[in-house]
Amino acid sequence: MKHVFHAALLAIAICASLVGCAKKDDSKTTQLVMATEATFPPYEFREGDKIVGIDVDIAGAIAKELGRELVVEDTKFDSVIPAVQAGKADLAASGITITEDRKKTINFTIPYVEAAQVILVPAGSEVKSTADLKGKRIGVQSGTTGDTYVAENVGEPDRFDNPAVAVAALKSGKVDVVVCDKDPARVFATKDAALQILDEPLTKEEYAIAISKANPELLAAANVVIQRLKDSGELARIVASYEKPADAAAE
Ligand code: ARG
Repeated sequence: MKHVFHAALLAIAICASLVGCAKKDDSKTTQLVMATEATFPPYEFREGDKIVGIDVDIAGAIAKELGRELVVEDTKFDSVIPAVQAGKADLAASGITITEDRKKTINFTIPYVEAAQVILVPAGSEVKSTADLKGKRIGVQSGTTGDTYVAENVGEPDRFDNPAVAVAALKSGKVDVVVCDKDPARVFATKDAALQILDEPLTKEEYAIAISKANPELLAAANVVIQRLKDSGELARIVASYEKPADAAAE
């Protein structure tokens, strides 16, 4: 009797461990992990304890197509592509600009939006155009195309972990201007009448989702979904859903 009891316990233990293992492995195929830096409205930002935005909705559509649950991991912007390379995330969706340099280490999907770097200044600033940037203290988000542009064309910028902190430094006079992506800049300027965006953009860029070179299947699936979102008008609807009436008034 004792033997039977032990055998039964052993069987239960084995089953449990198998189920445990199966569950663990399953998460790889039941979840789609997106790496992002979530202080970048309207692409990714926090609403209460949730991360929402255009990128979250696009990644959500890809997850849905694959029958997986989207899990959003918030990290520093310099870490989103390395997270994908290291296999910690399946994709990085973070308003990421396609660049030749990044293409060496990661694959990009087809682009989903046009972007640009712009100059954000306090209203009434003596900086009126790109030509006035020389000698100014310029805030950027570390590791971004804005960072690269300033370093290559103007001089060493002041680097911040996220655009919101860079804007706070602008407000407190620690930097003279902030160079960042146009859509987040628009959100910051709309919320704060003391901020202005200069007309002339510094760059012309396109955003895409970054996927490991080791995962061509996911790249192909993501491209199909993005193309479909574009063709059906769903992408335009997603973008419009993040444009608050106040943003339109600031145009
Ligand atoms: N588009 C710029 C780049 O790719 C900045 C992106 C920053 N994104 C973010 N979620 N903070 O470098």
